[in-house]
Amino acid sequence: MCGIVGYTGNGPAASLILDSLELLEYRGYDSAGLALKDSETGETILRKRAGRVQDLRYLCDFGSEWFNCGIGHTRWATHGGVSNDNAHPHRFGKVVLVHNGIIENYLELRDQFLLSDRLKSDTDSEIAAGVMDHFYNKNPRQAIAETVRYLKGTFSLVIMFEDIPDVIYAVRNVSPIVASYTNEGTMLASDVTALGIHAKQYMPVPEMNILELHKDAIRLYDMKGNPQACEFIDIDWDTSRASKGNYPFYMEKEIMEQPETVMKTIKSRIREGHIDLTADGIPDSILAECDSICAIACGTAMHAALTAKNIVQSRLRIKMEVECASEFIYSDPILDERTLAIVISQSGETIDTLTALKYVRSKGVRSIAVINVKGSSIARESDYVIYTDAGPEIAVASTKAFTAQIAAMMLLIGRMAVVRHALKPGEEKSFVENIMKLPEQITSVLDRRRDIHVIARQLLEAKDTFMIGRGLDYSILLEGALKLKEVSYIHTEAYASGELKHGTIALITEDIPVIAMVTQTKLISKELSNIREVKTRGANVILFLREDIDVNEAEFSKVFRLPAASDDFMVIPAVTALQLLAYYVSSDKGLDVDKPRNLAKVVTVE
Ligand code: F6R
Repeated sequence: MCGIVGYTGNGPAASLILDSLELLEYRGYDSAGLALKDSETGETILRKRAGRVQDLRYLCDFGSEWFNCGIGHTRWATHGGVSNDNAHPHRFGKVVLVHNGIIENYLELRDQFLLSDRLKSDTDSEIAAGVMDHFYNKNPRQAIAETVRYLKGTFSLVIMFEDIPDVIYAVRNVSPIVASYTNEGTMLASDVTALGIHAKQYMPVPEMNILELHKDAIRLYDMKGNPQACEFIDIDWDTSRASKGNYPFYMEKEIMEQPETVMKTIKSRIREGHIDLTADGIPDSILAECDSICAIACGTAMHAALTAKNIVQSRLRIKMEVECASEFIYSDPILDERTLAIVISQSGETIDTLTALKYVRSKGVRSIAVINVKGSSIARESDYVIYTDAGPEIAVASTKAFTAQIAAMMLLIGRMAVVRHALKPGEEKSFVENIMKLPEQITSVLDRRRDIHVIARQLLEAKDTFMIGRGLDYSILLEGALKLKEVSYIHTEAYASGELKHGTIALITEDIPVIAMVTQTKLISKELSNIREVKTRGANVILFLREDIDVNEAEFSKVFRLPAASDDFMVIPAVTALQLLAYYVSSDKGLDVDKPRNLAKVVTVE
């Protein structure tokens, strides 16, 4: 969490830093700050406050356009509450720094280096600055190397030293930093989203190396001071995607982009009617040789895995476990070399997913990562990667990344089915046709978004809702419920509808809207009878239904018909409808749709 930016060059640093921080606000948005270096006097000016980057702009009208070197930060609080003092950057002696991550042993360090009397904040980050100042004796790289030997935890630290003009230093352990050349200088950031409009290539900074940004050079050193090669990769994201265009919120824009992003994910992997993952470098052997799959992810990405599990087990007849990454390593997982690990992550930086991946690899398990952000830590750690082509996802609530993850998983499942002879040649053709139809099915839902907007109005006053369904409908409702919770603050529980009567049905009253999903042929009659059970208890039911299923619409408070597809492929139109529902409830409630309270998009703390 936390967004970091640094710039040194001939251009105005403050505006570049503020604009870039705004693009990174999805990493945290409870406070913001920047430090600018005056290259003539060497003086460093700090401005910081609780609140958004927009609020920080008001503090920068002091001629800040004349400064050409600076660092900035947008915070998601961990140690120390949300306050002006706890906002970054932190200045301690000759050191000014910003930090992303957690220094676990910060209290020990405070005492060991006798820092207490000089601290102005409650943060672990200021203590890191204090330790670095202790070691600083006009040799920045040495001070950084000495400091990180004492730090336990995860960190990306970006540092300026009071007596060194124009140079920015950085070091990282786990938490990411990327660096690039720009037209007029060099810059760094927590992720590539902030670099896109300034650069064509970027370098993911390797862990435990020291980065130096000069006006005209990017240099990298190992901890012993030996120069290291800088390896750059192309930025091939359409950077216009990182702006809102004419939409009021990124979430709406990103939902609307899905026909295109799903098509992009699919298209390059279908050749002459066959699924082809050779460009991703995924050998058929890894798909053929496994006896079981262990999928690991968090949040929305975990829902993509849960959805895939149903399809894997029914089509491939191999066992698939889905593990919540934050619990995984503590659950004594049972793995062997015939297990294939699949990790799914939009950002590629979620620390729990990364830790779980490192764990499975240490046990000799081979891995495929389904990732949106190129060159991210999880992508680099995994044996193989399938990149989803969703482009930059800015809204905190994930939408287009999810449908791209499902599309990528469908391709993986399809290819596995072919190499394991679970799909015959004719069946592969119809599987591929179904995949190719997904974009038009999304469009069919998007075209009727006004109907979903009308449905959303029924939820504006709700305090609680249930979402009920079975099988794949239940998996997709888990994602729908997460969306509604995070952007509308309505407590929503997705429930396996057959399970309700084992206790939870006690909560059903006429005040609680129930959202039901019915799309799966083999479950229609079971799902409809579960819906009757809640209706009998007074519930008002909003029904999302595959269009060719017959119901008496008068029995429901609203019905939305989803375009028909074969069962496994219904999940994509179904989730699109639920994303829109969450979006309209949130925007109609006047909430900050893209930045829900307490959240950050990239979760780099455990
Ligand atoms: C919810 C959401 C989160 C993420 C989760 C994992 O809308 O975005 O639940 O899905 O934090 O993030 P990634 O996919 O970046 O690993």
